[in-house]
Amino acid sequence: MNEHLTVVDHPLVQHKLTLMRDKGTSTASFRQLLREITQLLAYEVTREMPLTTRTIETPLEEMEAPILAGKKLALVSILRAGNGMLDGVLELVPSARVGFVGLYRDEETLQPVQYYFKVPEGLQDRLVIAVDPMLATGNSSAAAIDLLKQAGATDIRFLCLLAAPEGVARMKEAHPDVPIVTASLDRALNSKGYIMPGLGDAGDRMFGTK
Ligand code: URA
Repeated sequence: MNEHLTVVDHPLVQHKLTLMRDKGTSTASFRQLLREITQLLAYEVTREMPLTTRTIETPLEEMEAPILAGKKLALVSILRAGNGMLDGVLELVPSARVGFVGLYRDEETLQPVQYYFKVPEGLQDRLVIAVDPMLATGNSSAAAIDLLKQAGATDIRFLCLLAAPEGVARMKEAHPDVPIVTASLDRALNSKGYIMPGLGDAGDRMFGTK
């Protein structure tokens, strides 16, 4: 991926995103829509996975058929909202290994504080896709990527639903080698660190908490 930021402007993604933003959308629908959009975004973020071929026999003849090669996938959910994006990708790539990074945002400083870190072995040999629906200040995301690099990851992509310009700039500064794929680049952050127009607190909306 050459672009640091890819905004997936596919009509299905944009339609589903509008439904997710709407404050009247139920928790169940929000969760389902996130799963569906994630699958569409996964199509983009996995676009450059290398292929090799395998000899197979169709009912009619033998052929050299394309099949995923080389690097295996590791998905890393940035807790807790990242979990809402895991299943969508896992349905497409069931063999992917899964890791978790737990960071919470200090409400006053907006700085990330780590409370959990568990990732698959051999990250250096995997394509690592970190998922978190909201790229807001970028502080948590950049800190999560720091941890993944310390654990050996070298080929990392960041998959999110919404991005704020501030978060994209922070990630570009901290991790210019990590391409970002998102459904929308929103206007800005507000004074509380929420993405505007955004969709509110993604974790609360997907888990029905407040
Ligand atoms: N996290 C969220 O869930 N929503 C925002 O708008 C920003 C960060």
